[in-house]
Amino acid sequence: MARRVFASLALLAACGGALAQADGAALFAAHCQACHQPGAVGAPGIAPPLVGNIGRHAANEEGRRYLMRVALTGMIGSITVDGVRYTGNMPSFAVALSDAELAAVLRHVLAGYEKVADLAWLTPEQLAATRQAGGSPNETHKMRGRLPAGG
Ligand code: HEC
Repeated sequence: MARRVFASLALLAACGGALAQADGAALFAAHCQACHQPGAVGAPGIAPPLVGNIGRHAANEEGRRYLMRVALTGMIGSITVDGVRYTGNMPSFAVALSDAELAAVLRHVLAGYEKVADLAWLTPEQLAATRQAGGSPNETHKMRGRLPAGG
């Protein structure tokens, strides 16, 4: 009996740890992959590739703000990636995901698929600040058009 209680406590502790540092790969599979596809390679007519695309925005401040913001506000308006036009809606994850989860899923894409080395800026605190700044999906689309690394 005592052993079983101990085992449950150990399990709870393990789950608590996993929640504390959100699992970006699992979050990507659950929330992003249906549209952006496994490996974030995208699918014409559904969602743009993230791999080979968004990493360039991680090199400057406006781009970083855009990357955090697009996940929070979502985006409406057509974009062109690698010569392919996408006109779908990127949903907002402001309600579904916490700041820590958003940081983890973006980290998964940027570090895992885009091999971005400097991600010290990508913290739950920065996501909280971006969340507070707000903005509409349309404004996020306009912001994309003004990015230093190109839209
Ligand atoms: C329902 C489908 C769908 C889901 C789910 C989805 N996206 Fe998107 N995403 C899109 C579409 C469509 C666009 C392009 C929007 C546009 O044309 O304005 C996009 C755009 C993006 C962009 C901007 C790409 C660029 O070239 O600027 C990023 C970053 C992104 N999504 C990340 C994510 C992440 C991270 C998740 C999971 C938390 C996710 N998306 C879930 C459909 C989706």
